[in-house]
Amino acid sequence: MLSLIPTEAWEYNLVDVITATSILLKKRDENKLLQINGVGKCYPVRSGRVGILIALKALSLRPFSKIGVPLYCCPVVFKAIKMAGHMPVFVDVDKDNYCLSIDDLSSKASALDALIAVHMFGQTCNIYDILQIMRGKPVIEDAAQSLGSLINGKLTGTFGQLGVFSFRSGKYLTSGEGGAIFCQDESLGQKISTLIKEMEIPDIKSELAHVFETYLRTKLRSKPLWGLLGTKIWKIYNRKISFIDKSPIFSGQAYTSDLKITEKRMTRLNQMINKQRENADFYLNNLTIPKDMFCLEPPNRYYNRFMFPIKFNSEERCQYISDLLQENNISTSRPYLDVIEGSYMHYNYQRNCPVAERLLKTTLIIPVHYRLHQSELAKIADILNAGWKSISNWGN
Ligand SMILES: Cc1ncc(COP(=O)(O)O)c(C=O)c1O
Repeated sequence: MLSLIPTEAWEYNLVDVITATSILLKKRDENKLLQINGVGKCYPVRSGRVGILIALKALSLRPFSKIGVPLYCCPVVFKAIKMAGHMPVFVDVDKDNYCLSIDDLSSKASALDALIAVHMFGQTCNIYDILQIMRGKPVIEDAAQSLGSLINGKLTGTFGQLGVFSFRSGKYLTSGEGGAIFCQDESLGQKISTLIKEMEIPDIKSELAHVFETYLRTKLRSKPLWGLLGTKIWKIYNRKISFIDKSPIFSGQAYTSDLKITEKRMTRLNQMINKQRENADFYLNNLTIPKDMFCLEPPNRYYNRFMFPIKFNSEERCQYISDLLQENNISTSRPYLDVIEGSYMHYNYQRNCPVAERLLKTTLIIPVHYRLHQSELAKIADILNAGWKSISNWGN
């Protein structure tokens, strides 16, 4: 268990603690913008979820507006929609990339007031079609998972009226929390700035507590504590906390310590993405499972390979491979398993997104992160190939 390989790369060492705390000695710059290379100056926010909340508020939609959102999504996005005073309307996804289905969006678009286009797992939406279908209605790009992903050489998050990024640990930059909003429209930008300034500024005590909490959580999410303790704690948390109470949205302005770490890590982003793309290529070349179980990168797209999802054709096969990898000291995850029932119970989901439902039940995420060694990648591929060989002829 000491050597259990985590699914995600959490990074926050003692040098980060020093960097993060030393910035607290300086006066907070209320007007500070965050530069994301290739994107531009962004408004820093406490987290991606607060970014979506602020983006929706800045659009000044009438109360209870219908906001389109893919069902295959982190449910905190649905929570942010509700918190902004609106209602999520669920749109199905494309089986090839987990992003909005153009056909389903076309059939639902006339009833929508705005849309959140999520670039899931770092794969990219068909953004040109989406913008055309929405015909001038606001589109917020959720680039929480797609920092660095490109469509025709342009970064995700820069196509819609607003783009939202996340730097939370578990995402690429693992800064603790932190997020940013990109917006080219000046008057919308003014509203965002005002909404942020109305939020509470974290005091030094909560900044310090946040830095140390991030350090501890990172230790628990990394070897060797992940196998010894971390998995157990996260399992208990997930079992004990109900769907609606998970992932709370704490409002407030961004922690300066998170911003500092984000800026520091951003300089290494391309390096991290290159390594994860190499790792993904290794799987694409060495896994002997059918090619339609992967998300392949279409021409003119550049995936950051934040996650490496595998699409199984049954829940049983998916769970079998997950268990097999776990027995061999490799963590995997099956994300958002409670979204179907949770959205039905709490967000009026009409059970009309069959592809997303199937993917939610049959997707396995295997580690692809930049901290993996070649021997670990090879081990994961060998075990998965052997497992697949033994189950591929199971009846469906
Ligand atoms: C697709 C997506 N959007 C938004 C968020 C919210 O970002 P954050 O965790 O920084 O609040 C997340 C992650 O939780 C996410 O995965």
